[in-house]
Amino acid sequence: MGAQMLAVLALLALCSQALASDPSPLQDFCVAIKDTDSRVFVNGKFCKNPYYTTADDFFFSGLDKPGNTSNSVGSKVTPVNVMQLPGLNTLGISMARIDYAPYGLNPLHMHPRATKVLVVLEGTLYVSFVTSNLDNRLFTKVLNKGDVFVFPKGLIHFQFNVGHTNAVAFAGLSSQNPGTITIANAVFEAKPPIKNDVLAKAFQVDKKVVDYLQAQFWMDNN
Ligand SMILES: *[C@@H]1O[C@H](CO)[C@@H](O)[C@H](O)[C@H]1NC(C)=O
Repeated sequence: MGAQMLAVLALLALCSQALASDPSPLQDFCVAIKDTDSRVFVNGKFCKNPYYTTADDFFFSGLDKPGNTSNSVGSKVTPVNVMQLPGLNTLGISMARIDYAPYGLNPLHMHPRATKVLVVLEGTLYVSFVTSNLDNRLFTKVLNKGDVFVFPKGLIHFQFNVGHTNAVAFAGLSSQNPGTITIANAVFEAKPPIKNDVLAKAFQVDKKVVDYLQAQFWMDNN
């Protein structure tokens, strides 16, 4: 009986996690304390004493400045999440500016904790996401200035600047801490490396191909 009860409870816990986004706040705000040493989290960061909270805790400046896209992928993400803006703690939302050089790519990646809605301010972006197994359907769209596209939480996606000019987009994300898993980096630059016979079998290629890929420098544009 006890074991059954535990199993039911475990199942319930799993279900609620599968449905969960960032939890709802239990107070007006909970400005994050800047304590980089802390390894203790209460599903978010510790709150600063509200008595000492000021407008500056809810303020960030500089998103008018383009990110530096001089790198191997030709794009740069400038995030404004709870790390840059402590007032976002517990509020379930964040944003980013993304700059793209001509033919720059924000490479295949996913956000484990957030849906992303993107608006193009300048340029032309070819964007895609892929659904999960078994379909693995690819959805694509070419976006111009003023166009908006949504990338569902957890799905692999990218944006590619197919124009001859710089492009810039802004994104809203449904988590204070969306997280980013860049596919190539996670697969070919895991530390320590994933065994090459594992990757050779997973990708159905020769181990030499895997060795080559693992020897590359995988840019993190975040
Ligand atoms: C942009 O990044 C490149 C490569 O790291 C660097 O050489 C260059 O000075 C940077 N440009 C600016 C304006 O910061």
